[in-house]
Amino acid sequence: MGSCNLLTTTGALVIRLQFTSSSSSSHLRIPRRSLTALRCSSAPTSQGKKEMVKAIRIHELGGPEVMKWEEVQVGEPKQGEIRIRTTAIGVNFIDVYFRKGVYSAPAFPFTPGMEAVGVVTAVGPGLTGRKVGDVVAYAGNPMGAYAEEQILPANVAIPVPPSIDHKVAASVMLKGMTAHILVRRVFKVERGHTILVHAAAGGVGSLLCQWANALGATVIGTVSNEEKAAQATQDGCHHVIIYTKEDVVTRVKEITSGKGVNAVYDSVGKDTYKASVECLASRGFLVSFGQSSGRPDPIPLSDLASKSLFLTRPSLMHYTATREELLESAGEVFANVANGVLRARVNHTYPLSEAGRAHADLEGRKTSGSIVLIPDSSS
Ligand SMILES: NC(=O)c1ccc[n+]([C@@H]2O[C@H](COP(=O)([O-])OP(=O)(O)OC[C@H]3O[C@@H](n4cnc5c(N)ncnc54)[C@H](OP(=O)(O)O)[C@@H]3O)[C@@H](O)[C@H]2O)c1
Repeated sequence: MGSCNLLTTTGALVIRLQFTSSSSSSHLRIPRRSLTALRCSSAPTSQGKKEMVKAIRIHELGGPEVMKWEEVQVGEPKQGEIRIRTTAIGVNFIDVYFRKGVYSAPAFPFTPGMEAVGVVTAVGPGLTGRKVGDVVAYAGNPMGAYAEEQILPANVAIPVPPSIDHKVAASVMLKGMTAHILVRRVFKVERGHTILVHAAAGGVGSLLCQWANALGATVIGTVSNEEKAAQATQDGCHHVIIYTKEDVVTRVKEITSGKGVNAVYDSVGKDTYKASVECLASRGFLVSFGQSSGRPDPIPLSDLASKSLFLTRPSLMHYTATREELLESAGEVFANVANGVLRARVNHTYPLSEAGRAHADLEGRKTSGSIVLIPDSSS
């Protein structure tokens, strides 16, 4: 093949392929989105024009209705940066916290989202190690995943193994790495341990239970209803407590013959903190890693003293602060997806433009497993 031209048309791109073996040329018309990965890194991706893409933007704090579907300019990656065309975006409870103001966004308007998979469409000047067409994923900062395209620092991008589907990758990056640090680094789960996991059928909870089971622990999960209980059982919970029908502390005491559990993984916060402390065995660990029901009240040290308890409030970002830690965590997640230890549950997908609906369902406890947004142009 001698040359390859990309000619922009209104809705599609036209490639003119010219072959050296004959003087003829042929034209192939294919959808624009399928071609993004073919752009040459040495050529300007926008021919000097400022391309607009669609993204969710939040101008003021509030309910899901404050999430607006708007045009934004993405621009070109600078030194050390890449631009990706997102193909699948993970929804996380942290996105809700930013929308409501539980955590403060750096500026308004802002685009939420901290987990996505995409295809590299441009690389910044002089960047090596990443090229146009690579499939990468990221989790954490910078916020802005709810967009058709996004600029990222190259050092947060993790190559996605070709065997792993984009939706699956987007559902396990942030949640899977959180499960990884929780069971392998924050409190090291071992055979013989008994642990309690709140929201066991949730995005993080589902992966956490599967991982802890594989490590040999006895896993007790709490959920709100029968359907979620069935999922939690499939995900490796040896005992499931439906907290809307049963008292969690009483059941945990029964299951553990009064001893209590070695660790509680509590992402619910305000509603569960007190029961979590009561469920712990002597020298147990309270791992408080989220607050889907609201911030827990301040915890007096005296609450820990009666059983010499440990309390930690970990954040994934602190455990993946270096590139080595990030690669290790993502590597363990992808390896465990590939070898079947982790089964990603992409139970809900929504078009990106309907991210507000996804948030309403997440906050309304209507979801289980992971939620993934698909850019409208790819669905
Ligand atoms: N520290 C970190 O680095 C880190 C990283 C990732 C996630 N997290 C935290 O992990 C938690 C789980 O995140 P996720 O994205 O996987 O969400 P999720 O667990 O899929 O969704 C939240 C679930 O929590 C339960 N829940 C209990 N009370 C609730 C309430 N008042 N409002 C809403 N949900 C309630 C519900 O399950 P039931 O119906 O069974 O009650 C609900 O489905 C969040 O708190 C998040 O902030 C922390």
